[in-house]
Amino acid sequence: MSDTAKSSRISGFHRLSSEDRRARIGELTGLSPQEMAEMTQGATLERLEAFAENVICGLQLHLRIATNFRIDGEDILIPMAVEETSVIAAASNAARLARAGGGFTTELLEDLVIGQVEILDISDPAAARQALEAAHDEIVALANTAEPPLHPFGGGCRGMDVRWLAMNGLGDRMVVHLLVDCVDAMGANSVNAMCERVAPVVAELTDGRAGLRILSNLADHRRARARVCIPAEVLAFGRWSGAEVRDQVIGASRFAEADAYRAATHNKGIMNGVDPVLIATGNDWRAMEAGCHAFAARQGRYGPLATWDRDDRGNLVGTAELPFQLGTVGGVTRLHPTAAASLKVLGSPGAARLGRIIAAVALAQNLAALRALSTEGINKGHMRLHERNAALASQDDGGPREQRP
Ligand code: MEV
Repeated sequence: MSDTAKSSRISGFHRLSSEDRRARIGELTGLSPQEMAEMTQGATLERLEAFAENVICGLQLHLRIATNFRIDGEDILIPMAVEETSVIAAASNAARLARAGGGFTTELLEDLVIGQVEILDISDPAAARQALEAAHDEIVALANTAEPPLHPFGGGCRGMDVRWLAMNGLGDRMVVHLLVDCVDAMGANSVNAMCERVAPVVAELTDGRAGLRILSNLADHRRARARVCIPAEVLAFGRWSGAEVRDQVIGASRFAEADAYRAATHNKGIMNGVDPVLIATGNDWRAMEAGCHAFAARQGRYGPLATWDRDDRGNLVGTAELPFQLGTVGGVTRLHPTAAASLKVLGSPGAARLGRIIAAVALAQNLAALRALSTEGINKGHMRLHERNAALASQDDGGPREQRP
């Protein structure tokens, strides 16, 4: 949130009219009336046509604000764009519980994007590796001559790794990884350009043939971790005591740790928090989806992106670790007025900070789902909101609609 922000704890926010909500967000974040108006209106057709080909119109999604988030000691309002009902209420509710333990803490684990250069037809892999390692600095320097450059922004290629993919002699290949600091950009264009720039030299040094040259969406060198520690008593729900809810949430975490079928659904709930923030801020959510799921399978078996435990004081402790691929500059992040305003609502973060915020939202979303699932079940809350949509749908076409289970 911007410097003018006071608190993300806005009591009764959901009861306000959308007009009053906008006024409140304007007051809290310092968005000017003009920025608020542009955010509400979204991109004009003319602007949309400038972004992409074959446009016929824009598509509206709700832009909603999750409240109550406290992340690294700072109150933050979270803009989220998603069609699914109850996601924002769930995130806000979990963030309110997290406040009882001081909110979320986050850390940046690494901040490098991977670009891959594939080299085929290498006859002497050992000699090829040796040649590449000897030319490490030269290759990194060459990568840094690619356009658009990252060094004016403090970024650039920082290093190189060499991998050999053995495929039983049938199409074995070498893969060179460029490790690139993209600063606040997602970096796809710059990293792809670096891969293309170094590929001919790498092919020559290895006496091979350059194949694909593209960034990897498994961004395991650009990761954020979020943690939360919640006193058990605040978790009480309906007829379930706080200690029971804590143990049931931990049990649900174990289920996801043991079973890929459950882990996929567990992680879908996590992406309910991740994607809407990416969409609201004009980011490529497919890149992050692909990266998160590949990361979830990094140990050879698909597992959960967030897990839960208890500490020796009986608190519920959760951790989420996510690879992040996003930017706060470039793409449409600043060109789309709603995305630009959403970034301002978030306090104008850099890419690493946005990655950390998203890890906290992911953890909140997961807690909300597991708390509901392990107590009254997900449908009661969902259905209250779905019934409203179903009523709207039947008013539209005079018939009932199938509802998601
Ligand atoms: C629904 O959109 C998400 C959940 O299925 C997540 C989960 O099961 O953990 C409720």
